[in-house]
Amino acid sequence: MKVLIATEKPFAPTAVAKMKEILEEAGISPVLLEKYQDKGDLIEAVKGVEGIIIRSDIIDKDVMSADPELKLVVRAGAGYDNIDLQAASERGVVAMNTPGQNANAVAELVFGMLVLMARNNYNGSAGTELKDKTLGLHAYGNVSRNVARIAKGFGMKVYAYDPFLTAEQIEAEGVIPVEKIEDLYKQSQYVSLHIPATPQTIKSINYELLSLMPKGATLINTARKEVVDEQGLMKLMEERPDFSYVSDVRASNVEEFEQKFPERVFFTPKKMGAQTKEANINAGLAAANQCVNFLKNGIDKFRVN
Ligand code: 3PG
Repeated sequence: MKVLIATEKPFAPTAVAKMKEILEEAGISPVLLEKYQDKGDLIEAVKGVEGIIIRSDIIDKDVMSADPELKLVVRAGAGYDNIDLQAASERGVVAMNTPGQNANAVAELVFGMLVLMARNNYNGSAGTELKDKTLGLHAYGNVSRNVARIAKGFGMKVYAYDPFLTAEQIEAEGVIPVEKIEDLYKQSQYVSLHIPATPQTIKSINYELLSLMPKGATLINTARKEVVDEQGLMKLMEERPDFSYVSDVRASNVEEFEQKFPERVFFTPKKMGAQTKEANINAGLAAANQCVNFLKNGIDKFRVN
């Protein structure tokens, strides 16, 4: 039995070594495909394996069709919008994620980018502090919980909007619940996005919503580029020289943003939120264990389809 670890953006070597160990101990042969160039490489590598472990790698109909043996795809991470779930279900392929495993890494990057922007890219001019500023968390899941914990250390006032949680659940963690999405944007100098990309959320962070943010506002996106209406954001930033955008998920028109607002945007060159040794180990090992549990014992915890 074989499991392919297919990562265009590789895990830290320590994580890979431990993942291999877990699979081998269970009698599963690991196959490694890292930094591959195109979908063709993935299609070749997938042939004959029963499980695949991926990160943001795209598993679509073509990849799944290349491997009639395929039973399982584990996304070592939170978001699984890179897996065609319908195609997986049609082929009887189980899809899973590893929720929470890379959450702290993403949350720490939120603050790495926030401080960079608040201190004017360290250009020598007087910046601002985060203490006593308001931070709105759009959705309150694993990453948000970590962001809230760190924000409190900075002395920020933290609000959260999450229609899937009760006000009591949010309050219990020392965060102020906000009932209406518009109020979150009105009250927050900083808004951090933690929503998945779904048909309902795509382009939902639009001009109208962002216009509600107070003077000197900053939007932080470590979620998905698709959730932001980039045209709306561009228009807003053209109208409001006080508005900044920092993002770990590069906009489609990143060059235009950088050219028009060099001081007010920051994009990581590659999605780096989950790219720490610790997060690689947490998510990678969880994924390897989930492979063993499912392929050997039929346990489908964290199944998403
Ligand atoms: C996730 O959904 O877990 C994050 O976006 C991390 O993605 P990555 O594994 O490609 O870094």
